[in-house]
Amino acid sequence: MADLAGSNFIKTTIVTLSLLAGACNNEKNSISTEVGPTTLEEVNVLKLYIRHCVDCHGENGDLGLMGAKSLVTSAMPISERIELITHGSKNGKMKPFGVEHYGDLNTIEIEALAKYIETLRH
Ligand code: HEC
Repeated sequence: MADLAGSNFIKTTIVTLSLLAGACNNEKNSISTEVGPTTLEEVNVLKLYIRHCVDCHGENGDLGLMGAKSLVTSAMPISERIELITHGSKNGKMKPFGVEHYGDLNTIEIEALAKYIETLRH
């Protein structure tokens, strides 16, 4: 009986702990969609570009690693750029960065990046 009670206690503890862990995760997710810049002016766009884009596209936009298309010669309109950065490329070579895909960037940051990369064109 004591053993039974003991194992129930353990089970309850495990369930409680996993619920708590779940609650923490949810909290983290919901926070990550809310924190971060809320206006374009607050975005440190260069920092974001260097952190998230430079590995494949390079500082000047024309590195072309991992099949990355050149941002220098790109003529993609802003709406498609936002779409692509948010949801990733159809061929899966560029991952989605939007928080809805558990990416690191909120909509303001994505808009800022989509605008910034236009300055790499020439
Ligand atoms: C893992 C490498 C990788 C990273 C990191 C990456 N990209 Fe890409 N990007 C690609 C690839 C590959 C393509 C071409 C996808 C295709 O073939 O459709 C691409 C295409 C693009 C295009 C479309 C260009 C065009 O005219 O077709 C834009 C815009 C773009 N990336 C912006 C970004 C931005 C902004 C970031 C950072 C948030 C970023 N990329 C991070 C690999 C990457």
